[in-house]
Amino acid sequence: MIPENFQLLFSHKQIDERIHELAACISSDYHGRPLVIIGVLKGCLVFLADIIRSLGFDTTVEFVQVASYGASRESSGVCTMIKDLGTDITGHDVLIVEDIVDTGETLMYLIEKLQQRSPASVRVCALLNKQARRRVPVVVDYFGFQVEDVFVVGYGLDFDERYRGLSDIYALPPE
Ligand code: PRP
Repeated sequence: MIPENFQLLFSHKQIDERIHELAACISSDYHGRPLVIIGVLKGCLVFLADIIRSLGFDTTVEFVQVASYGASRESSGVCTMIKDLGTDITGHDVLIVEDIVDTGETLMYLIEKLQQRSPASVRVCALLNKQARRRVPVVVDYFGFQVEDVFVVGYGLDFDERYRGLSDIYALPPE
């Protein structure tokens, strides 16, 4: 199932250990205050499922979906909200959960949208942070791993909608 030329970057064990560390930081920062977790579909699905089970307190979970990539490896730079929140976040602490922050454009767009709804706070938790590709200044409050400028798949991350179900994270060979 895994092509020979995929390079293993992070094993499920490494991811699992890092998630427990992240969850401990988040739990300590919020001190059990009510928290709305907002997952950004679809890439967040595996990471979000693991992180909410590692947190030491209860949260509510909502989802949004923002389109930006299409079927290529490059961001189009144009974001559109495909699926919006189903709840009012006014006055609530919000934690956005992303699989990866690349150019930062999706996150910037989403944070601006959410800030218009007057939440108490907005923070970001991303499994992967591709700082080298950043085009806009966004703060990622919690992240699992820094990644180089390679295209990554697995553990929820796709290439053209494939490979989301891989347990580990791999780098695709350069084009
Ligand atoms: C990916 C990822 C982020 C975004 C990051 O989503 O999940 O939402 O791209 O890229 P950026 O920092 O350059 O904006 P994608 O659009 O591939 O959709 P998916 O989550 O459904 O895979």
